[in-house]
Amino acid sequence: MPGDKSISHRALIFGALAQGQTGVDGLLESEDVMHTLKAMRALGAKIEKQGQNGKWQIDGLGIKKAITPESALDFGNAGTGVRLSMGLVAGLGITARFIGDQSLSRRPMGRILEPLKRLGVIVASQDGCLPVTIRGIAHFPAHRTEINIASAQVKSALLLAALRADGVTEIIEPAMSRDHSERMLSAFGADITSTMLEDGRHRVVLNGPAKMQACSINVPGDPSSAAFPITAALCIPGSDITLQGMLMNPTRTGFIETARRMGGRIKMLNARESGGEPIADLRIYGSSLKGITTDPSMAPSMIDEFPVLAVLAAFAHGPTMMCGIGELRVKESDRIARTIDMLESMGVPVQCGDDWMRIEGTGAVWGDSARTTAVPVRTDGDHRIAMAALVLGLAAFRKIQISEPECIATSYPDFYQDMCALGARFQTEVNASC
Ligand code: S3P
Repeated sequence: MPGDKSISHRALIFGALAQGQTGVDGLLESEDVMHTLKAMRALGAKIEKQGQNGKWQIDGLGIKKAITPESALDFGNAGTGVRLSMGLVAGLGITARFIGDQSLSRRPMGRILEPLKRLGVIVASQDGCLPVTIRGIAHFPAHRTEINIASAQVKSALLLAALRADGVTEIIEPAMSRDHSERMLSAFGADITSTMLEDGRHRVVLNGPAKMQACSINVPGDPSSAAFPITAALCIPGSDITLQGMLMNPTRTGFIETARRMGGRIKMLNARESGGEPIADLRIYGSSLKGITTDPSMAPSMIDEFPVLAVLAAFAHGPTMMCGIGELRVKESDRIARTIDMLESMGVPVQCGDDWMRIEGTGAVWGDSARTTAVPVRTDGDHRIAMAALVLGLAAFRKIQISEPECIATSYPDFYQDMCALGARFQTEVNASC
């Protein structure tokens, strides 16, 4: 599977900040990650691919030496890249302007900008959206911040801002979001601890200034990308596939746990650890699935998987109810609206509200079997909607035609080739040969 996107962004950012040469194996070379890579180069880090072995080398700056970029940092579609880098610039005492594509320019940045402003950072933006200019502070204060959404992007931005601060920075989030920043900062030598509080909140404490020494990083397989072939295999009778080297960090396995609760036969093999992250191989079999109510407290651990989980639910017997998913409205697209439209266009009965979706599964999806032309699905350029729609068509044995098929390169550039290798057939104008 392709390397994990969250870990790939962080490997580049933390590697750029560390003293010395960081080697990265298995970096996801997707459009989102390449935007972060270019931004780190613009701040002064030297980042090069090493020959043909696919390994990247980062000559880090150390946390004191970033340069002011000559032009705006363009993050394209990359929410993680832009939000983490805003925190980074805020704490480095330099000024930078941040821009992105149409979708990223509509997404809320206030969740990062407001806490930074309260800590003294000067920010210029139009209604909390891109373009944003940040004038960082040279002596960023150690701080205690309670954030009101379980967002790894907000947590990580605040941690990055505080790396040079003298003293204890404490960040409390309402529930634990993905913890790759904490794990990776610790691997780079920062003094950081993570504790679950009795009331379910999560606390991170960083003792600054952080000492960041280069290290080597192995990027494991991305569970959010794996959710697409996993769903295809679970829904198509007789399937039997194995995905190797998958990230099994418990803050990311919500989809796998939920699919198992629905009756999905997923076996975990060869559990091991690599670079401070748990990994394993996964064997997935075609399964008979039942509808369930998802656990809202698990939403952060599968936040990017809901569109494809909705596809899985359409193939299950009985209704599936997903609550507490309002964040989906402000992802790369309004993912509740796009998922509902996608399923409706294939005849699946669905309902939704501000922060919930209900899918009536009947054990199969037929679409309009008399139809010979493809069912059109609007993606709004959202990679996860595009892949979910193609998996829906694949499992239903119906032709689906997605808008903006190239958006898949955001997170999973080899999606078409990998799915072809599993037996899917595409007619496409983008760079796939089957
Ligand atoms: C990410 C965190 C999540 C997720 C995104 C990647 C990260 O966003 O949706 O795709 O790498 O930190 P939030 O932090 O906004 O929940």
